[in-house]
Amino acid sequence: MERTAIKGANALVTGGAGFIGSHLADRLIAEGAGRVVVVDNLFLGSVDNLTDALKRGAVFIEDDAEVPGTLESIIKDYGINIVFNCATKALNYSFIDPLDAYMTNVNIMAILLELQRAEKFKTLCHFSSSEVYGTAVYEPMDERHPMNPTTTYAAGKAAADIMLFSYVQQYGLDAFIMRPFNNYGPRQNFKGPLAGVIPTTARRIIAGEPPEIYGTGTQSRDFIYVLDTIGAVIKLYGKLEPGEAVNISANDQISISEVVACVCEEMGYTGEIVRREARTADVYCHNASNEKMKSLIDVSPTPFRDGLKETLLWYRGQI
Ligand SMILES: NC(=O)c1ccc[n+]([C@@H]2O[C@H](COP(=O)([O-])OP(=O)(O)OC[C@H]3O[C@@H](n4cnc5c(N)ncnc54)[C@H](O)[C@@H]3O)[C@@H](O)[C@H]2O)c1
Repeated sequence: MERTAIKGANALVTGGAGFIGSHLADRLIAEGAGRVVVVDNLFLGSVDNLTDALKRGAVFIEDDAEVPGTLESIIKDYGINIVFNCATKALNYSFIDPLDAYMTNVNIMAILLELQRAEKFKTLCHFSSSEVYGTAVYEPMDERHPMNPTTTYAAGKAAADIMLFSYVQQYGLDAFIMRPFNNYGPRQNFKGPLAGVIPTTARRIIAGEPPEIYGTGTQSRDFIYVLDTIGAVIKLYGKLEPGEAVNISANDQISISEVVACVCEEMGYTGEIVRREARTADVYCHNASNEKMKSLIDVSPTPFRDGLKETLLWYRGQI
């Protein structure tokens, strides 16, 4: 199947005021996309993340992608050819409103697939999550690892993936899946209870509060710098068959204790670290296989310390 080229195409990024989506919007402009349109309800994202993109011609629409008719009218009004689906409500939110976290992932996918089936746009590049795998039953986790979601967020992501696979099988749509592992980098939300471990630790240190570790701290994640993810997505875009999924990771397994220690060291913090009880449903280990990605594209991952320095520089400017 001939894939719609990014250069010259009109691209819609759902959730594009968020962390990954805003970097993607920047890159799509740099790749020569015809028009880059972002829809985001600002549940978590921020227009500030789009400062550069807006200066360079991107269009921002503050709206809810789940409301029937919203995506259809944007796709029609801007002649959208490609949709990059980044919209989601953060994993931690599923501990606050489990059903809404689940439904957002499912609703947006259902709307997009029905619009694609009706030929309203050509290509769907969906952002899944390593969370669909749950705690590893074997390591490293490749794309054939069973889906075993342990949160409703992850269940919604898994349901969306399965929905996409079925529509590709049934209707021959040009839809495929990028499945990133844990990202970090500038623009990742640092406010409130939805923030991840790196931004939360940075925020607490800047605010003069001790960093926290939930559980033993031996739980591990495979962290990848956000710009490496975006680079991989752009390279993989033309390489995946419809219905294919690919892990995007740096193979940089690191425990939460080490992450917190690195942030403390970079920020010159030597005080106490508060231990909190483990969160239920916290995935214990996320060790990715990125063999498939590496078989398709060349990658040169940013070393964790280098990416962390860039990230903390950004937080210092923001907080
Ligand atoms: N950040 C990571 O570590 C990571 C890891 C794996 C997968 N992913 C996936 O990558 C994608 C982007 O993640 P992110 O880290 O940028 O998250 P993010 O929360 O920063 O961005 C998601 C954006 O979606 C928006 N949104 C939520 N509900 C919406 C709705 N109904 N209508 C319109 N916009 C809505 C939010 O306001 C937010 O700006 C997600 O699909 C996520 O599952 C992220």
